[in-house]
Amino acid sequence: MSPAPASLTACPLWLQRRLKAAGGAVSFATYMEWVLQDPEHGYYGRGHVAFGRRGDFVTAPSLGSTLATLLLPQVLQCLDALAATTEALSLVEWGPGDGGLSRDLAVLLAQARPRWRQRLQLVLVETSPALRQRQIRQLQHQPLPWRHAHPAQLAAAPVTGVLLANELLDALPVERFTRGEDGWRWQWVHCRRGHLDWCPGPPLSAEVPALLEAVGIHLAGHVFPVGWTSELALSQRSWCGAAAAALQQGWLWCLDYGHNARRYYSPRRPDGTLMAYARHQAMGNPFLRPGEMDLTAHVCTDLLRHWAEEAGWTWCGEVSQGQGLLALGLARRLSRLGEADGPPLAQRLAQREALLRLVDPAGLGGFRWLVFHRGCPTPAPGELLVLKEPPGRGNGDYARFAG
Ligand SMILES: C[S@@+](CC[C@H](N)C(=O)[O-])C[C@H]1O[C@@H](n2cnc3c(N)ncnc32)[C@H](O)[C@@H]1O
Repeated sequence: MSPAPASLTACPLWLQRRLKAAGGAVSFATYMEWVLQDPEHGYYGRGHVAFGRRGDFVTAPSLGSTLATLLLPQVLQCLDALAATTEALSLVEWGPGDGGLSRDLAVLLAQARPRWRQRLQLVLVETSPALRQRQIRQLQHQPLPWRHAHPAQLAAAPVTGVLLANELLDALPVERFTRGEDGWRWQWVHCRRGHLDWCPGPPLSAEVPALLEAVGIHLAGHVFPVGWTSELALSQRSWCGAAAAALQQGWLWCLDYGHNARRYYSPRRPDGTLMAYARHQAMGNPFLRPGEMDLTAHVCTDLLRHWAEEAGWTWCGEVSQGQGLLALGLARRLSRLGEADGPPLAQRLAQREALLRLVDPAGLGGFRWLVFHRGCPTPAPGELLVLKEPPGRGNGDYARFAG
């Protein structure tokens, strides 16, 4: 990890007090939860986060309505299938940030299916009080009935519909673990001489190697050198359960950056995927300006699938965001920008930039879309628009299909 100027890793008083009350040291997941979600001090919790080109980082919805427009036919395909048997439908967005994707989808869905205005509701699940306020402002003029819901409310009265989670899972707290001279241990966080730093945590329990074995990673032996460190997103396990409890029947779409287990836990990736972000700069040190920077770690796609299936989801398939969006007509939209009766030049250039960023394999286009369902016999996984193979094309790495 790169050394940072001492002033930047200074432990603020509120964190010093928390750490002291917790006995001096806490797991990294606890630290991450505090600095991201604390309603008074957390980066998301108090609404310090700024999305978009002028903010700290770009997400696909922060580039405008392009993602919603392209996703619409896929969301409609799923909702149409459910509408054949169910009266009340829901579009749930978990972790909606500014609320732009929900707003744009609500407008487009109401235009596409005007008769659904009474039967389709929008449900937003958001931990941050400050972001809930932003979402209320964002959604005030969209045409569908909508509400914020706590996961416990959804578990008590589950809905039928589509659940979207765009860049939510990478913001959930992760644990860090490392190979020490004396074996595998958690990495914990403490404050030393006024500065945040790592400290050795307890040894890993036997459950962790067993869990990683299930996705083909073997911690025993000498494959991983002393000092090799990575993350484990145990919070995603409970999230898969909460998402399953929220949906009686429907589809789960997780859109996030991720690697399969072999790449995620490669011996050649010695320091995991944890990153701190501010002003479009990525830094490896998670203790910089706590509460003022985003902290994020990639999703291990194999573990997510393992946990989702454990929670009762049926796996449909996986595709990269770039390929998924091309399957949903992004190339056609690009070529239409060249037509004579298109929008003014400045607008065309902005749209072109957004479209190209969404498919850039080195950026947003490299995101993974992981698709699951609960009790939806149609469309069959291979018939989903984004997972459908184009005619004459081999499976290759275009998509991985369920059995
Ligand atoms: C990286 S932002 C993504 C925002 C938005 N989906 C986008 O793509 O622009 C993560 C979002 O998830 C929210 N979040 C984080 N943990 C959450 C949780 N456990 N439950 C609900 N929302 C959560 C954050 O407050 C924030 O709105």
